[in-house]
Amino acid sequence: MASPSDSADSRVIRRRKGPAFEYLVPLVYAPVLPLIRIALRHKPVLRDRLFYGVLAGAFAHGTYLVTDLYDAESNEVTCPGRACFAPILTAQFQNLTSLRILDLGSNHLIGKDLMLLSHLSSLEFLSLGGNDFQANNWFREITKVPSLKELDLSGCGLSKFVPSPAVVNVTRFSSLKKLYLQKNVLNGVFMERLGQVSSLEYLDLSDNQMTGATISDVLPSWFSDLPPNLKILNLSNNHISGRVSEYIVNKQDYMVIDLSSNNFSGPLPLVPTNIQIFYLRKNQFSGSVSSICKSTIVAATSLDLSHNQFSGELPDCWMNIGNLAVLNLAYNNFSGKVPPSLGSLTNLEALYIRQNSFSGMLPSFSQCQLLQILDLGGNKLTGRFPVWIGADLLKLRILSLRFNKFYGSMPSLICQLQFLQILDLSANRLSGKIPSA
Ligand SMILES: *[C@@H]1O[C@H](CO)[C@@H](O)[C@H](O)[C@H]1NC(C)=O
Ligand SMILES: *[C@@H]1O[C@H](CO)[C@@H](O)[C@H](O)[C@H]1NC(C)=O
Ligand SMILES: *[C@@H]1O[C@H](CO)[C@@H](O)[C@H](O)[C@H]1NC(C)=O
Ligand SMILES: *[C@@H]1O[C@H](CO)[C@@H](O)[C@H](O)[C@H]1NC(C)=O
Ligand SMILES: *[C@@H]1O[C@H](CO)[C@@H](O)[C@H](O)[C@H]1NC(C)=O
Repeated sequence: MASPSDSADSRVIRRRKGPAFEYLVPLVYAPVLPLIRIALRHKPVLRDRLFYGVLAGAFAHGTYLVTDLYDAESNEVTCPGRACFAPILTAQFQNLTSLRILDLGSNHLIGKDLMLLSHLSSLEFLSLGGNDFQANNWFREITKVPSLKELDLSGCGLSKFVPSPAVVNVTRFSSLKKLYLQKNVLNGVFMERLGQVSSLEYLDLSDNQMTGATISDVLPSWFSDLPPNLKILNLSNNHISGRVSEYIVNKQDYMVIDLSSNNFSGPLPLVPTNIQIFYLRKNQFSGSVSSICKSTIVAATSLDLSHNQFSGELPDCWMNIGNLAVLNLAYNNFSGKVPPSLGSLTNLEALYIRQNSFSGMLPSFSQCQLLQILDLGGNKLTGRFPVWIGADLLKLRILSLRFNKFYGSMPSLICQLQFLQILDLSANRLSGKIPSA
């Protein structure tokens, strides 16, 4: 069930400026090109993302393409069913040797091969994302376009990978930096070859069918085949079990790792030194997290360990991760006191420790003046209602102390929290009057 605080969490994360966002800006080089934009805007067949750039030399072909398919009267592109994709991409595109950017994403194109690619010898950005396009030769074909820097094949129904080592010369393929393969039905078999693409920095394989080893305590065998220079890796929403091995740890260049919603188990892996975003949410990790003190992860801004089986006391070393803005430890089995060093995180914007067994008094969070979300529900915390909440946390939007053992009266300072949207103090031992401003 999505709780209000869960969605607030993602809001905070989205607001952060990090590599994830830098990498989402697809076409930083676009303004440099003498672009002629041929926009085909019509509903519902083609949405307004069709052709971005065709250089002057290729313009005539581009025009053919438009006039062939675009019916000005009906304001629609006529695409004769399944036949559409092949003619566009093979015959018409064959001579577009100057084409650098081709965005056909989010349409209804259909096709079985990517043979045309070998003609597009200048192509740097290609998106076919969101088309029902099941080309199993995708990997072989993209390796024929050494200029390709960014490839989006997300949501294309890709299931198989037909390796053809004789044809694929991966070493030629040294420009590709970003590869979007999310929302397909891929499994791990192509990793060995993908791992040779040493230029690759961004790999999104979320929402696929990636699995781990069959023996549960062995790392997924393809983990060692991940491209060596990755900085951003998204493997969320797969079926991977096994332990996260040293492979990730040894690659200190990682800035973003998202392993959420898998079946990983074992202890908390050592966190890579340069990490900024590290998500292990919704797995089967267990044991203590005290090893986090051994990592020097000063750059980390967002850690999500929620929905696992971590247990034991939290270490008191959080001052070493002073950039932390979002810390999610909810839905685990942590116990003991909330360590005072958490209160030294002056950049903290969201803290979730909901549904654990924390006990004792809360340390002061009065230095965490950027806090917007403080979710402490479902623990065994006690003490008077903390005065610093109303006095210092003036940016609070969500405050939950529900199901704890706080007692005493609510300080009237709480009326200062003008941004408060959710206030849940239920199931405590609070008494006295409700303050009025
Ligand atoms: C591509 O170029 C060749 C040689 O210039 C020409 O013969 C051929 O007809 C062109 N193909 C298309 C589809 O325009
Ligand atoms: C692959 O391409 C590289 C660079 O173009 C070349 O040096 C190498 O010999 C090729 N390997 C094979 C097996 O063709
Ligand atoms: C990873 O992918 C999932 C699903 O596509 C997305 O919701 C999530 O935000 C991504 N993670 C990061 C760190 O960008
Ligand atoms: C998850 O991993 C455990 C071992 O840690 C294994 O017993 C279980 O079958 C796995 N579940 C799935 C759905 O893969
Ligand atoms: C949580 O930890 C306690 C000990 O602190 C243990 O008795 C209990 O079984 C654990 N619960 C789960 C669900 O792991």
